[in-house]
This record gives sequence, structure tokens and C-alpha cells, in this order.
Amino acid sequence: MTKFQQDELQQLIKNFLFEQNCIETYHHCISVGDYAFELGKRYLENPEQARIAGYLHDISAIYPNDQRIAVANKMGITLYEEELEFPLIIHQKISKEIALNEFNITDEAILSAIECHTTLKGQYTDLDLVLFIADKIKWDQVGEPPYLVGLMEALDKSLENAAYYYVDYLLNHNIKVIHPWLWEAYLELKHDLG
Ligand SMILES: [Fe+2]
Ligand SMILES: [Fe+2]
Repeated sequence: MTKFQQDELQQLIKNFLFEQNCIETYHHCISVGDYAFELGKRYLENPEQARIAGYLHDISAIYPNDQRIAVANKMGITLYEEELEFPLIIHQKISKEIALNEFNITDEAILSAIECHTTLKGQYTDLDLVLFIADKIKWDQVGEPPYLVGLMEALDKSLENAAYYYVDYLLNHNIKVIHPWLWEAYLELKHDLG
């Protein structure tokens, strides 16, 4: 991606999100994308994929939680029971659809990272891991994430260590619903880190 293309994509995302009053989400997306790019330089052949995935990962914020089931149905997205129970998680799948249909992102690797940025999934790629971790480090809430110090320490070891640290943290902190992809990722990370 040239600087021009990058600016252009940022502008399109800005227009899209500002039109729906999702200003915070815009800043979060850019910060995650830029951080994912930096992190990606260490692990990925093409860190630009991480930047694009980050810029678009929460683009579905235009739909509030109470609309997400209906929107997903309309888009033909299949939902798990866990997603019906806790519709917040659906936003990762809706973001993927918007990236594909509104922003013409056809790179399957980028779409995959967007689609699993909240839960991760089994058979994750390094790009999936980079976006997942970047989103947790540059989170969308006020102040510093409570897991940040441990996560950064784990990240010094590897992407897998960082992802495992975060998922393990979640599982030990009153997680409301365990998404099947999160559980798959957890088992696989645990196995890989053996
Ligand atoms: Fe998200
Ligand atoms: Fe996010």
C-alpha cells in the first residue's frame, strides 16, 4: 500500500464511521492498524495486511448490539448459539462482510484476521495473531488494560505466548460466554506452546 492508498483508505473509513457518529471507533481502528503494522514488521512478510485489517476490524460499530443478530441474518452469516446469547461478538463477522462488500477487500488473509479479531480461532495465522494482540494492546476502553503488563511480557517471547496469555486471562476473569473459536484457539495455543 502506498502512502496515498493508505491515506485514501483512512479517509474512506473516516467518512463511513463519522457519518454514523462512530468517532471513537475510527480513532481506535487507526491506532490498532498502525500498531498492528509495527508489530507485523517483526513477524509478517507483508505487514501492510495487518494495517488494513486493523483499520477495518471494528467497522461494524455502525450497528449497535441490538441490531447485530438481524444484520448478520440479512448478510447470510451463520451464527453460533454463543453469538445469539452475546451479540457483541458478532461484530467481528459483520466487519468482515463490510470490508469485503463496501471496501472491496478480497484478500482472504486480511478478511480472516478481521473475522476472528475478538475470539481468535483454531488454525490461526500469524496475521490473525498480530491483529488479535494489537486490538488487545490498543483497546477501545479508557485507561490501561489490566492485563497489559503481563501481555507485553508474554509478547517478548512470541505471538503465541501473548495470545495464550490473553485468552487464559479472559477464561479466568468471569468471561460471559466462551465462543467456540476462542476455545479452539486456546487448546491449539496450549498445544503449540506445549
Ligand atoms: Fe472488535
Ligand atoms: Fe477493536
